[in-house]
Amino acid sequence: MPTNLEGKHITLGVTGSIACYKAIDLASKLTQAKANVDVALTRGAENFVSPLAFAAITHRPVVTDVFDPQSELSIDHVALAERSDVIVVVPATAHTIAKMAQGLADDVLTTTLLATQAPVIVAPAMDAHMFDHPATQANVKMLVERGVTFAGPASGRLASGLIGKGRLVEAPELLGVIRTTLGRDGDLAGRKIVVSAGGTEEAIDPVRVITNHSSGKMGYAIAEAARDRGASAVLVSTPTALPAPHGVRMVKVRSALDMRDAINHECQDADAVVMAAAVADWRPVSAADQKIKKGASNEWSIELTKTPDIIAGLIGDSLVKVGFAAESQDLIANAQSKLVSKGLDLIIANDITAVDAGFATDTNRVTILDREGGSDDLPLMSKYDVGVNILDRVKPLFRREKL
Ligand code: C5P
Repeated sequence: MPTNLEGKHITLGVTGSIACYKAIDLASKLTQAKANVDVALTRGAENFVSPLAFAAITHRPVVTDVFDPQSELSIDHVALAERSDVIVVVPATAHTIAKMAQGLADDVLTTTLLATQAPVIVAPAMDAHMFDHPATQANVKMLVERGVTFAGPASGRLASGLIGKGRLVEAPELLGVIRTTLGRDGDLAGRKIVVSAGGTEEAIDPVRVITNHSSGKMGYAIAEAARDRGASAVLVSTPTALPAPHGVRMVKVRSALDMRDAINHECQDADAVVMAAAVADWRPVSAADQKIKKGASNEWSIELTKTPDIIAGLIGDSLVKVGFAAESQDLIANAQSKLVSKGLDLIIANDITAVDAGFATDTNRVTILDREGGSDDLPLMSKYDVGVNILDRVKPLFRREKL
């Protein structure tokens, strides 16, 4: 799945912590995402992992010593610094953090870090007492003030046996930080994009709800695509099994009414809203305070009332409105009439009867319809790529001044 990692030059600076082996997994994930991954290993790191492990995964030479005459990068000691789109120190020891804070350049990694103009991300991994030490804390503070991004450390069991703050953050979190950092100056920077996701839950009583099979995947993918292009992305989501994407602001809701309030609030200063959520059309008139007993009768009915149409009710001419039409028949005709009746700029028509498209899949096949009668039939693609396509069409429609 191509993301904003594709084609980027990412340098991993691996330093001497037992968590080094996790950097191999990260290098693998970045390489799979089609990034060009250069690895610089410190001497300390070489005690834990071999350069060969990284070279085998990245298919690129690994730099271990600035004075290695064999290395093309060693001859030009700032080559890595110049070619990198981002440098990630992973794992970062207290010692390397201290050297960075002081501006020392006694090995290939610290030389590169001193010479680079690229954004720098530091993912510390160390014993909790070392991280808590006032010296480390002061160094971290200094680096943050200089614009370095810290990812973690996380809390948990450490190699020393201590439980505390010092664990390397997991790869998915770090990938999110890298993507957010790379997207910072993207073409949607300065734009606020609100995305809804998931199926709403309409309470019957404290234990029962009316809901649907929406997985939330489409909305999460759109929010990630917006973040990867520098937008300030807000995800108004019902509970889903998906992890909260890094760099996306999450607003958690359950019912259609909750979602309406959150969307109305977030859209006051937004440039665009994409309603990917499957909002219930009906909700129980009232939710019982106590669990409803089975009782003796074989029949039970729930009185339902219509939920408000969230996207149709949004006021403000400057907001670009995008809806979804999940249909099982007369796809285009139904989508077209919703585009008009809901006052949308774009509608994404989605045939939910196809096995490789719609609910719970990682792919989707959609047709994008616009107000002028334009219709764009997209082939089967990842939901992320559908998100990219939607944002490409939203971009020329922005009506608000950039933030
Ligand atoms: O009318 P229908 O539910 O098919 O419309 C789908 C589009 O309208 C989706 O974008 C959905 O998120 C949005 N919607 C809404 N409020 C509702 C129902 C649907 O905003 N109550």
